Amino acid sequence: MKDARPSVLLIVCGGIAAFKALELVRRLTERGVRVRTILTRAGARFVTPLSLQALTGERVSEELFSLTDEHEMGHIALSRGSDLIVVCPATADMLARMAAGLADDLAGAVLLATDTPVMAVPAMNVRMWLHPATRANVATLAARGVTFVGPEDGVMACHETGPGRMSEPAMIADAIMDALRPVQPPVHFPVPRPALRPLHGLRALVTAGPTHEPIDPVRYLANRSSGRQGYAIADALAQAGAAVTLISGPTILPPPPGVTLHRVETAVQMLAACDAAMPCDIAVCTAAVADWRIATPVTSKIKKTPGAPPPSLALVPNPDILAHMSRPGPARPRLVVGFAAETDDVRDNAVAKRKRKGCDWIIANDVRAQTGIMGGNENEVTLITATGSEHWPRMSKDAVACGLVRRITAAFDIAPDSPGTDTPDLPPDGVPA
Ligand code: CTP
Repeated sequence: MKDARPSVLLIVCGGIAAFKALELVRRLTERGVRVRTILTRAGARFVTPLSLQALTGERVSEELFSLTDEHEMGHIALSRGSDLIVVCPATADMLARMAAGLADDLAGAVLLATDTPVMAVPAMNVRMWLHPATRANVATLAARGVTFVGPEDGVMACHETGPGRMSEPAMIADAIMDALRPVQPPVHFPVPRPALRPLHGLRALVTAGPTHEPIDPVRYLANRSSGRQGYAIADALAQAGAAVTLISGPTILPPPPGVTLHRVETAVQMLAACDAAMPCDIAVCTAAVADWRIATPVTSKIKKTPGAPPPSLALVPNPDILAHMSRPGPARPRLVVGFAAETDDVRDNAVAKRKRKGCDWIIANDVRAQTGIMGGNENEVTLITATGSEHWPRMSKDAVACGLVRRITAAFDIAPDSPGTDTPDLPPDGVPA
């Protein structure tokens, strides 16, 4: 019978931080997680199979060509039977082997044979972490959906200082518990069935896409947003029965069926269109609104004058539409959801952004170029409310939209088959537990 506990396969590699893996195992088993382990040959120089076995209560796997295991294709079974694979510590060598897809030991073979989400917890010397080879390997792995915890800045065992220190076991355990939370990966997010229409009777407003801020009649300031996530959310809300107004900056996307689409160019126009679409019950601001606009756009094309310096562009701040929608008052939507596009300290920045903007929920996403998220078809997000956060594994933007609509439906406490016209007010801190 399948063990009902969430299950982690922990791959312990060779590094001075390997001893922390023991503490991690203890924290996970205390939280009811089944932990099975693979100890690499180098890992076994730092921790013993016996200590791992004692802490996990499970046999430790070490060899690819083990006669006892391999007659059952042990590496295939190990790669499939877990909810999450955690490589901890993930050494520079291991990251390189993962990026290259090497399978000449048990850990490599398991990582290559798996379709289970993989989390890596790097630990290495600062120069190894900053080396272009490691940077490229990390980017390759991140693009394939591997998530990373750490490394942290600090003094390392080699007495050098900088990024490379392995995160503390408590933090790793938190990230693992977040990843294990049953926040259904795509297959578990059924698209809301139109027949049920749990959001029927509610009005929703979605902002999407970039804004274009004119410099002159032919040039503008913009960003890389495709609008896909916002369009997917508008579509999912409409399929769930909400009356949806989509305020979109310039995109090439077709309007989702059943959605009222208003196209705008600039942040100022987007704000005006949002105000015109009020009141609404639910506002989801996904637009990548330009933070600044040109102070004085000109109506004639700026010409190059031979020998003259390039023109300097004076900028003024744009209105913050999300903060504007989140202001307390009778016109405030009952649920305001923002997005946080971040490149550094994603979660912390998003937590602060949620408070600063005053929205109920914020969905953090890592938009560093190597994630391919901005402009791509997939997203990996963390939903942050006033009371907690949920990390969702990498999935299609459609699946993120469906997941969000399910959370919205739950927040409005609407049974999937009820008409949904008479919904209770949300608690002030957003999603009820
Ligand atoms: N947003 C908005 N109006 C703006 C800027 C942002 O409505 N003028 C909204 C976005 O739609 C998103 C959220 O605010 O829901 C956060 O946007 P983001 O670009 O991540 O943050 P900024 O507010 O621009 O802050 P920073 O650039 O400092 O990260």
